[in-house]
Amino acid sequence: MSTHNIPITATGYSIPPIGMGSFGSDHISADVMAQAVRTALKIGYRNIDCASVYGNEREIGGVLSSSGIARDELWITSKVWNDSHGKANVIKSAKQSLHDLGLDYLDLYLVHWPFPNYHPPFCDVDSRSPNARPFIIEEFMDTWAGMEALVTEGVVRHIGTSNMTEAKLRLMLPNCSIRPLFNEMELHPTFQQRALVSFVKAEGMIPIGFSPLGSPNRPDRDKTEADLVDMAHPIVVQIARDHNVHPASICLKWAHQMGIIPIPLSTKERNLRSNFEAIQSDPLTAEELALLRDVESGNRLIKGQVFLWEGARGWQDLWDEDGTIAR
Ligand SMILES: NC(=O)c1ccc[n+]([C@@H]2O[C@H](COP(=O)([O-])OP(=O)(O)OC[C@H]3O[C@@H](n4cnc5c(N)ncnc54)[C@H](OP(=O)(O)O)[C@@H]3O)[C@@H](O)[C@H]2O)c1
Repeated sequence: MSTHNIPITATGYSIPPIGMGSFGSDHISADVMAQAVRTALKIGYRNIDCASVYGNEREIGGVLSSSGIARDELWITSKVWNDSHGKANVIKSAKQSLHDLGLDYLDLYLVHWPFPNYHPPFCDVDSRSPNARPFIIEEFMDTWAGMEALVTEGVVRHIGTSNMTEAKLRLMLPNCSIRPLFNEMELHPTFQQRALVSFVKAEGMIPIGFSPLGSPNRPDRDKTEADLVDMAHPIVVQIARDHNVHPASICLKWAHQMGIIPIPLSTKERNLRSNFEAIQSDPLTAEELALLRDVESGNRLIKGQVFLWEGARGWQDLWDEDGTIAR
């Protein structure tokens, strides 16, 4: 266990093994989030997961520029939102994020979702866009062409995907001029996505795990009664007691030891610190990892209902669960 950066063979750069999330889940203001980023940087975080749709890149940019930390010590990720798919829009959106963050390059730029389907901030779970449509590979590759152009121009160092499935990646990868080197995906002990993580790694990509603590304060539209709470799972709680740490630390140790880069969010200094320290020492034993393997429950929390299109059967259609892409 260490905080050494993880080398990226394809480019020669390296990425810090834990990041800080910055999605305010519709209830944390941009200023509060920026203050949390300031605290995180003081603690030692050097990897910040941003996105244009989080609505706080300008405030976070102010913190980055006044931090005194050298640019090459930081790893800054941003993402193009669903209303800006298509080559020209992607380039425009990346330039806006660069401007807002006050940077002249991004370490990583992701396609936030593989669907060009917009939903307004603060919408409820039944909100649907009349223009929403399923994954269409030709459209997606036009979006990807924008991502590649940003690398060629030198304003983005790495590009990647988010919320992709194996079926979609299998269609996409043979058509890339510049391959994705990261896939950001929901990953926590009750939702381990083992097959997808293996596939991503076998394709030379690094998995970034979002909602690594089980996102207890996610927007109401992403909550259902059947959802499990990772930090309250009896096995996670028991292992936390044995290590004398909070269950959050067990979720993060698990991710780190699985070769996943977790990006937990906190606005509290105490939690930011214990999350950062969780991956530095006191690793889980092989027996504990075996116990956590059985915590897997298919507990997808960010189901994405608001991205569904007319005629879709349900949120499962977004995730290609039977290996085929829903149309
Ligand atoms: N690519 C995508 O589509 C996508 C989707 C979702 C999320 N993300 C990214 O992933 C990041 C993390 O996911 P998330 O924010 O959904 O959820 P998360 O990191 O799993 O959980 C965050 C919540 O856990 C609490 N928490 C943090 N540390 C804690 C600790 N040590 N003890 C107790 N509670 C703790 C925080 O509350 P306090 O503030 O009170 O500590 C916060 O409300 C996001 O911020 C975003 O950057 C990406």
